[in-house]
Amino acid sequence: MIPRIPHDEVTLPDGGSMPRLGMGTWYLGEGRRPPEDEIAALRTGLDAGVRLIDTAEMYADGGAERLIGRAIAGYDRASLFLVSKVYPHNAGRARLRRSLEASLRRMGVDYLDMYLLHWRGSIPLAETVECMEAAVDAGLIRQWGVSNLDMTDMRELMRVANGSHCCVDQVLYHLGSRGIEVDLLPWLRKRRILVMAYCPLAQAGRLRDGLLDSAVVREVAAAHGFTPMQVLLAFVLHRPDVVAIPRSGNPRHVLENVAVLSDPLTDDEYAALDRAFPAPDHPVPLDME
Ligand SMILES: NC(=O)c1ccc[n+]([C@@H]2O[C@H](COP(=O)([O-])OP(=O)(O)OC[C@H]3O[C@@H](n4cnc5c(N)ncnc54)[C@H](OP(=O)(O)O)[C@@H]3O)[C@@H](O)[C@H]2O)c1
Repeated sequence: MIPRIPHDEVTLPDGGSMPRLGMGTWYLGEGRRPPEDEIAALRTGLDAGVRLIDTAEMYADGGAERLIGRAIAGYDRASLFLVSKVYPHNAGRARLRRSLEASLRRMGVDYLDMYLLHWRGSIPLAETVECMEAAVDAGLIRQWGVSNLDMTDMRELMRVANGSHCCVDQVLYHLGSRGIEVDLLPWLRKRRILVMAYCPLAQAGRLRDGLLDSAVVREVAAAHGFTPMQVLLAFVLHRPDVVAIPRSGNPRHVLENVAVLSDPLTDDEYAALDRAFPAPDHPVPLDME
């Protein structure tokens, strides 16, 4: 059993809920660290109450899903919230079911809590939605969503049959990349579709110069006994309807990330970060990694 973290859930469009903090797995299972260390990091998160793990068939070419399978062995499946993603070229009648079943096999489970279209490809959205709905009906997934879809894509998705059943749009969002706040985020909120923020730590600060050594970030960090990285996560989690999925193969970092949930930023701290790294004042193309 996995303990509950207080205030850790967010409501889904169908009235169900999902955890606000998860663990990403891009670059895990690639041999950058011994697999035992990465498994230990994931288990540290699970033992600390993080129930959500985000992955994709793409990550380490299935290796991240296999690693997750090893990490979750022995945990109560019902207490977990597993999310994977299908490659765009597999997201149609010919291959979605096969991709999904392969993901399930690699993780050693018989359903996913959520399955996402990884990014938009050439298969029509209507066909992907039809396949996602069929997978729900077959009991292989509980919910489905999308990733890297911008406003235009989302509007189109809402026009296809059952497109409004989409639960989340997983997009890049961090203190140094706030374009979604201008249009996509409020548009999704109106429809109660959740944002899953990927790269919430700006890939350890690599995606934007000046984040980690910013005086404001450092001041806020000092006030909480946080590292600058924890401030980046706290910024994303300040919005109650955004899910964040930081990735770490280091148990100490995982625990630091968990600690952020129980020590939120004050509104003044949020305002100071907002001034230091403002959102754009006009729509910008969706940032992607
Ligand atoms: N849908 C998509 O297209 C898409 C694209 C990108 C990512 N994603 C998902 O989002 C997840 C997160 O994004 P990401 O992995 O690209 O980047 P990220 O989570 O922003 O940053 C990961 C980096 O931060 C470090 N880190 C984590 N916690 C830390 C802490 N407390 N202190 C210091 N360093 C820390 C990690 O190193 P250590 O391992 O050393 O801790 C790693 O280098 C991915 O793993 C993936 O699941 C989805």
